[in-house]
Amino acid sequence: MVKNIQCLEKCLFLKLLGFALGKNKNKKIRLNRRQLLVGTASLSAIALTSKISNSQETNPNNLPPNVPEWTSELGVGVDANPYGMPSEFENNVIRRNVEWLTASTESSVNFTPIQDLEGIVTPNGLCFERHHGGVSVINPRDYRLMINGLVDREMIFTLDDLKRFPQTNKFYFLECAANGGMEWKGSQLNGCQYTFGMVHNVQYTGVKLSDLILETGLKSKAKWVLAEGSDSSGMTRSIPIEKILDDCVIAWAMNGEALRPEQGYPARLVVPGWEGNMWVKWLRRLEFGDMPYMTREETSKYTDLLPDGKARMFTWVMDAKSVVTSPSPEKSILHKGIHQLRGLAWSGRGKIKRVDVSLDGGKNWQTAKLHDPVMSKSLARFTLPFEWNGQELLVQSRAIDETNYVQPTINELQKLRGVNSIYHNNSIATWKVNKDGTVDNVRLG
Ligand code: MTE
Ligand code: CO
Repeated sequence: MVKNIQCLEKCLFLKLLGFALGKNKNKKIRLNRRQLLVGTASLSAIALTSKISNSQETNPNNLPPNVPEWTSELGVGVDANPYGMPSEFENNVIRRNVEWLTASTESSVNFTPIQDLEGIVTPNGLCFERHHGGVSVINPRDYRLMINGLVDREMIFTLDDLKRFPQTNKFYFLECAANGGMEWKGSQLNGCQYTFGMVHNVQYTGVKLSDLILETGLKSKAKWVLAEGSDSSGMTRSIPIEKILDDCVIAWAMNGEALRPEQGYPARLVVPGWEGNMWVKWLRRLEFGDMPYMTREETSKYTDLLPDGKARMFTWVMDAKSVVTSPSPEKSILHKGIHQLRGLAWSGRGKIKRVDVSLDGGKNWQTAKLHDPVMSKSLARFTLPFEWNGQELLVQSRAIDETNYVQPTINELQKLRGVNSIYHNNSIATWKVNKDGTVDNVRLG
């Protein structure tokens, strides 16, 4: 079984690597004049997107001064939706996966539709999912968290035990280290959702590990923690004790309700600002030790092969990053005049301090408006009004965090790390707005 899963994971890894190395079969178009590489992956989901929105034609009978059809009849009763769902006209706002990137649905990933969301909260049903062995179904009555190793008292907690501790309620982003992994060598996927959508941002309710540890006590030799999931993938990661005691949380709720099964119901580890892989879902055990455990997920995976043949390891922090969500490949500009450019920025090192936006491929920059609340290790929303009169634009955004770290260009990143990585691509993306208002993911040459 374990071998099988490792094989699937290897498959997904090789596929990601293939795309990072530009080995995909998809045709690329080289634009000589500006030397742009356009991502041309033919994604049926995107085609579907435009089809659906185009087919929603206006019915003139519903427009003023007529009485619209929904006014002349009774609406639906309160018993129709015990658990509410979005409007049927929003059925295009969904998680999507890339079929050819998917080894199997159990060892797979889908993407948050960030281009369709407002503000900074990701609705629970739209949070991207990354599973290495499928979604476990756990009856909360059978849930136990075991704490063992270099503690004074080894203990086992039920879910109710955890809920009796003082609680914390904080917003954090979770980003998979492989977000944008397919874009290392060139633009591959013509979609904001597929290039930036392995991120979500929710309010977590849970207990801080520093509080829980008051109960178990800690031996002075304890320097590392092994976090272990109870799903079939046997997900395990080592986390240094400083991080565990600083801001790590065991969460049982997101955005006010119980965790979704796909997000680790009934309890997951929250490791603010650090790569998603460490946020162990369906958490069953924390073992305190005196050295890192060197698990598969921190040796063979989640390391970056550098040009000199060495590999970076323990690359935990997610560096500052931003993306323009509209206009974007899924969000064409539909008419001339004033528009609100919208985007998201985040940093694993703290708060976003500033976001700059360029409409000419990085020659000139303007400062975007950051919207409250701007919280540490959480998505931040930015907007910038701009006028479009049918001209070509090269739209970029650049995040700067409170440590003054500046989001790099892809050239700067490649100079440091080469092109063999699939993890930690936080480079500035470029969206090319064409004269007809459509938008492409391009790479400036
Ligand atoms: N925890 C367990 N137990 N099993 C998993 O497969 N996937 C990891 C992490 N925790 C995983 C896990 C990865 S790679 C990521 S990016 C995040 O969970 C994804 O969290 P999400 O599915 O809530 O978006
Ligand atoms: Co991940």
